[in-house]
Amino acid sequence: MVKAYFYIVLFSLMLLSGPSLAQAEEEEMENTCVECHSDLDGAQKEAVDSWQLSVHKKAGVFCNDCHGGDPTSYDEAMEESAGFLGKPKKEDIPALCAKCHSDAKRMRVYNLRTDQHSFYKESVHGQRLLKEKDPKVATCVDCHGNHAVFSKKDPRSPVYRPNIIKTCSKCHSDKNYMEDYGIPTNQYEGYLASYHGKLLLEKNDPRVPTCSDCHGSHGATPPGTKEVAEVCGYCHSVTAEFYSKSPHSRELGEGKKPRCIDCHGNHRILFPTTAKFTGTGENDCQSCHNPNSPPYLLGAKLGQMLNESEAAIHEGRKQVEELRRKGGTGFEISRLADSLDDAKTKWIKTTAMTHTLNMPELEKRTGKITQITQKAREEISGIYNELNIRYVGLAVTWVFLLLLIWALNEKRKAL
Ligand code: HEC
Ligand code: HEC
Ligand code: HEC
Ligand code: HEC
Ligand code: HEC
Ligand code: HEC
Ligand code: HEC
Ligand code: HEC
Ligand code: HEC
Repeated sequence: MVKAYFYIVLFSLMLLSGPSLAQAEEEEMENTCVECHSDLDGAQKEAVDSWQLSVHKKAGVFCNDCHGGDPTSYDEAMEESAGFLGKPKKEDIPALCAKCHSDAKRMRVYNLRTDQHSFYKESVHGQRLLKEKDPKVATCVDCHGNHAVFSKKDPRSPVYRPNIIKTCSKCHSDKNYMEDYGIPTNQYEGYLASYHGKLLLEKNDPRVPTCSDCHGSHGATPPGTKEVAEVCGYCHSVTAEFYSKSPHSRELGEGKKPRCIDCHGNHRILFPTTAKFTGTGENDCQSCHNPNSPPYLLGAKLGQMLNESEAAIHEGRKQVEELRRKGGTGFEISRLADSLDDAKTKWIKTTAMTHTLNMPELEKRTGKITQITQKAREEISGIYNELNIRYVGLAVTWVFLLLLIWALNEKRKAL
């Protein structure tokens, strides 16, 4: 019975969907561009096949909406007199796409922004294209495709988040292609090696920046910043706040102010360690401060303070683990583990606070961390002593019991 119903419902669905599918096909067939190009081959057919998959096809954007022409005629479809534009020239593409994408009324239905063209015109790409007719820069279709255009949420899209780094690097990592400009071509390589890149590739972490989060997708600079070098504080706001209190953030004259990227790099941003204070890398303190100068020596001291307090936490944690292995359990041990975790949290916050370079404050904080770990380690020795006493007590009891058993046995034998 249930089965019969199922077939009835299925059959009615087929009846219902049948005509509408046919209708859609008919509508499409009415478009002579699509019809004729479907029967061609090479680039002519490829255009139709790609467009069939696109968001544009779904939204009813047809060939003639971009190329002009008369989609009701076979013979005059591609006549100039019918408004046919042909294959658009590279410098005309942004305005062509903007015809719809900058039209707020048209885009509201789809909840899409309409600022791409105005941002694009201000970007290095847009400036070079429009002012110098440079054919090598990216236009809309280089980043979105011309016919197979998808939503940015679709994994097939070149601007689907994890795909963006490849889309930009298609040009920017190509040494021959970028030869004329004299700019580095190692951004992709650097990004892959960075902590940001690692989190994107290994965890698809949505919080880390890809190329377009720092450079903007369409504009020259990302939202909320005057220049790209300032973008870091947009996400690392706590660190940036600390940095703003340091002598480094003071205006030191043109080009002298060390910014985030002077100490961390812009693409190859590695996970920083205290080695930065005394290391000889190109972004370490000595790259600007002579190893005998007071600023360098202050940094070296800071690094040492951080290293020592971290080592103390590490040692404390090792002792807690050992204590667990040796049979210590219960409230006391979890409390000690918690207080060492608390010290570690404070330590991490202190590494962020190093950006202030405020030595008295930092000394106070590392002092506090040392105090917590010291106290924990003293308590741990206390517990050890107690455990040792218990072990001795236990051993004495066992010896006594064994002696008793032996004596009783002797007695039994004698009886
Ligand atoms: C009767 C067949 C036919 C129809 C209808 C037709 N095309 Fe074409 N189209 C062709 C052929 C064949 C070519 C390749 C040779 C050429 O460029 O003329 C072509 C080429 C093109 C090109 C590439 C031009 C270039 O410079 O590379 C575009 C763009 C194009 N068609 C768009 C359209 C649009 C838009 C319509 C509908 C308004 C349309 N076509 C209707 C057959 C057709
Ligand atoms: C959203 C706008 C848009 C739509 C819709 C669109 N095109 Fe295009 N088409 C372009 C642009 C832009 C180019 C030039 C791409 C470039 O320079 O890389 C192009 C290029 C072409 C070319 C030349 C390809 C080549 O490799 O030389 C053909 C042929 C073509 N389109 C046909 C079509 C047909 C047929 C349709 C409908 C099925 C269609 N287009 C729909 C924007 C569009
Ligand atoms: C350099 C590469 C690049 C160029 C050039 C480019 N885009 Fe984009 N576009 C992106 C990226 C990356 C995203 C996705 C991230 C985002 O939402 O900003 C995007 C997103 C979009 C979106 C979706 C926006 C939304 O609200 O979801 C539209 C529409 C769009 N672009 C249209 C255009 C148009 C029109 C042009 C030409 C004027 C253009 N793009 C030029 C890279 C580019
Ligand atoms: C005739 C109007 C029209 C033209 C011209 C046009 N588009 Fe669109 N485009 C649309 C509409 C409508 C949508 C919304 C489709 C949807 O969201 O379902 C859209 C969606 C998009 C999206 C997907 C946005 C997202 O993330 O959801 C991108 C990317 C895009 N268009 C790029 C382009 C590019 C590049 C060009 C020029 C080659 C172009 N469009 C030309 C009307 C147009
Ligand atoms: C079609 C090739 C192409 C694609 C794709 C492309 N670019 Fe470009 N880009 C160029 C060219 C060419 C220049 C001009 C170089 C110059 O003027 O120094 C440029 C310039 C730039 C500049 C300015 C460099 C400078 O001189 O300081 C930045 C930043 C940039 N692109 C970022 C991006 C990002 C981010 C993406 C991806 C969202 C991207 N590009 C995609 C070709 C491309
Ligand atoms: C964490 C932010 C960030 C990310 C992610 C990022 N960039 Fe950059 N990029 C910068 C900064 C900052 C500069 C230097 C600007 C300055 O010196 O004023 C820069 C410079 C550039 C330049 C100019 C040439 C150069 O190397 O100095 C290009 C081109 C560029 N980036 C492309 C890319 C590409 C492609 C990607 C993705 C693979 C990318 N960037 C990812 C922040 C970033
Ligand atoms: C779009 C947001 C965003 C931007 C922009 C950004 N970052 Fe990050 N960054 C992150 C996230 C998220 C992490 C990973 C945090 C974590 O889980 O440890 C991270 C990690 C780091 C780390 C590793 C240390 C740590 O705390 O994890 C450094 C160093 C770093 N970023 C520096 C920079 C610098 C320098 C810039 C500017 C050139 C920058 N970031 C731009 C989001 C961002
Ligand atoms: C990109 C260059 C650059 C780098 C890298 C750099 N500094 Fe500086 N630093 C400066 C400049 C410029 C000043 C201000 C002029 C001065 O007093 O020498 C300064 C000032 C200081 C001061 C304040 C000196 C005073 O008299 O007020 C301290 C402390 C300092 N730096 C420590 C460090 C430490 C620690 C590092 C590494 C973590 C570091 N700097 C990395 C350029 C740099
Ligand atoms: C003078 C050099 C210098 C400057 C300028 C600088 N940093 Fe740092 N940064 C360091 C050093 C050194 C460490 C390592 C501290 C440690 O782990 O011992 C570090 C650690 C970090 C960390 C990991 C610890 C934390 O804060 O969470 C992040 C993230 C970070 N920096 C981001 C930034 C950002 C964003 C800026 C700009 C607002 C910036 N840095 C400016 C030298 C610098």
